[in-house]
Amino acid sequence: MCAAMNRSFISVILGGFGGGGGGPAAAVEGTVTEFSVDDTVDMLDEANSIVIVPGYGMAVAQAQHSLAEVVKILTAKNKQVRFAIHPVAGRLPGHMNVLLAEANVPYDIVLEMDELNDDLPQTDAVLVIGANDIVNPAALEDPNSPIAGMPVLEVWSAANCVVMKRGLATGYAGVDNPLFYKDNTQMLFGDAKKNVDAILRALQGN
Ligand code: TAP
Repeated sequence: MCAAMNRSFISVILGGFGGGGGGPAAAVEGTVTEFSVDDTVDMLDEANSIVIVPGYGMAVAQAQHSLAEVVKILTAKNKQVRFAIHPVAGRLPGHMNVLLAEANVPYDIVLEMDELNDDLPQTDAVLVIGANDIVNPAALEDPNSPIAGMPVLEVWSAANCVVMKRGLATGYAGVDNPLFYKDNTQMLFGDAKKNVDAILRALQGN
């Protein structure tokens, strides 16, 4: 876990993130593009390859069961659907794997970050569900970021990325996320369970 967070054992236990490289972290600015549930369903319908990145917010919302149903429908439409699991997603080791297993998501479509990162540039659509720090490009792009050096899922390299969360709040590390302002990122705001349920209803044609 310490390697995955690029932090010492002591700083992980104390819950601290360092101050980055000494200078101020880069200001995050730009325009946020908002997506509706229908926009998100259209994106999924048009995609052949889809990667889903769950984070702590999926656990809070308990969206995994509805999400598993969404995955069944997309897979039945012959789309390649895979989950990308960051080693420190959520708040406990294996947190996401346990939730997905509980929802009967097949193990063979649940992959680790290192297995999937290289495939993201060839991916049509990424659905980020309640994740924040683990998809923050500042970790790679801003040496002064408090999370500089932490390996992250490079979701912005996919053709399109939808981020599902309630607002623009920071995650555990308290660091702003430039992902939300990238041209190929769209925000689907709201509770993850409510929105996944709405996506499921739309895919079911209800
Ligand atoms: P976080 O960076 O904590 O982000 C979770 C996001 O979920 C929040 O920004 C929040 O945004 C959103 N959220 C909360 N409730 C939601 C809901 N009901 N519906 C939709 N979104 C919701 O999570 P992460 O990306 O999984 O990263 C994990 C973090 O925890 C890392 O910093 C990691 O280092 C740290 N950590 C992990 C572990 C282990 S072992 N997993 C242990 C200690 C620390 P909104 O408020 O805008 O909705």
